[in-house]
Amino acid sequence: MRTVTNPFITGGYVPEEYFCDRVQESKEVIRTLSNGNNLAIISPRRMGKTGLIEHCFHQPEIRDHNYTFFIDIYATDTLKEFVYKLGKEIFDTLKPKGKQFLDGFFSMISSLRPAFKLDSATGSPTFDIGIGEIHQAAFTLEEIFKYLESADRQCVVAIDEFQQIGKYPEKNIEAILRTHIQKCKNTSFIFAGSQRHLMQNIFFSSSRPFYQSVSLLQLDAISEEEYIRFVRKHFANDKKDISAELVSKIYLLFEGHTWYVQNIFNELFSLTAENETCTFALAQEAIANKIDSYRPLYQSTLSLLPERQKEILYAIAKEGKASGVTSGPFIKKHGLLSQSSVQTAVKQLLDKEIITSEENVYQVYDRFFGLWLSNLYGTGWRW
Ligand SMILES: Nc1ncnc2c1ncn2[C@@H]1O[C@H](COP(=O)(O)OP(=O)(O)O)[C@@H](O)[C@H]1O
Ligand SMILES: [Mg+2]
Repeated sequence: MRTVTNPFITGGYVPEEYFCDRVQESKEVIRTLSNGNNLAIISPRRMGKTGLIEHCFHQPEIRDHNYTFFIDIYATDTLKEFVYKLGKEIFDTLKPKGKQFLDGFFSMISSLRPAFKLDSATGSPTFDIGIGEIHQAAFTLEEIFKYLESADRQCVVAIDEFQQIGKYPEKNIEAILRTHIQKCKNTSFIFAGSQRHLMQNIFFSSSRPFYQSVSLLQLDAISEEEYIRFVRKHFANDKKDISAELVSKIYLLFEGHTWYVQNIFNELFSLTAENETCTFALAQEAIANKIDSYRPLYQSTLSLLPERQKEILYAIAKEGKASGVTSGPFIKKHGLLSQSSVQTAVKQLLDKEIITSEENVYQVYDRFFGLWLSNLYGTGWRW
């Protein structure tokens, strides 16, 4: 039996052959890094920031001349955790270089020396330290930066969900980081983030330490044209067919939001047999099933929301894209309580990242959730 890798990857590293487009964006990332400049990448979650960074890290221009590091700090709450993540990432990435690396690493970052352990089963070195054992995070951070600056190659450090540093309780985090980063000659940085207003505040408010310290890349959806080409090519490679019209319909339903369309085409690819053509009916069924598979999650999300927030969420889902949500007509149309209660509820939904706003147009953040709600409370999405 022949096994085929599903070409529509929905998690983890996307190998070159399954990576769609991003040609312009990759050029820009590589050019910025090659010039020793720092870069901020902003997009909604699941649009492809991590994928783009990993893709660029694998290109010869970067791979052959740099050490590359990637940390996601979404789940970190303190500078200590940040320092732990960064230290561990450098250790894990460079460990294959062997003993000489290990000696250098722990002699320069002496405050992390307690983390050096030998795995009891394999005998190989591991990085193992309790967060509580990092006593002076700022000092360890300084040692880490010194280490990167002394490396025998240029370094690139990508920090995903960078806006999270704004939530650390320690004072002056941004100033501390900025001071180190400014001094780096051998190390470039990518700051990626999905909370646009927080990211913009960090990099574009004149009162903040990171003001004007980066080039900005706003990552949008892959273009419809490129995505149609990509989908049809991979179907054809496996002797399957799908019309440009159908791909376009699905693309538009999700506005090309990468993870969502990838999920649907992953499903359609496996449901379409060799020498067959994917039909509209099959696609409709697959989308409905996909969305419904998340029902338990959506129900529990809803059950945790107070009544006022649920009401406005339903109203937004019904509209798909809702504008003027605090206006009289909108409130009346959807039977909402009052302007002030809508304002409060909207803010809470934004903080929980259940909805997003772009120039005062509101939308349910999770596109499957949005369609699921519009099926229940609106006219639904079916073609
Ligand atoms: N250019 C691409 N081609 C194909 N799949 C991609 C591409 N970029 C991202 N993906 C897929 O989309 C999903 C979301 O991308 P990701 O990079 O994790 O988004 P973000 O970091 O913005 O949240 C990933 O699971 C990945 O499989
Ligand atoms: Mg990411």
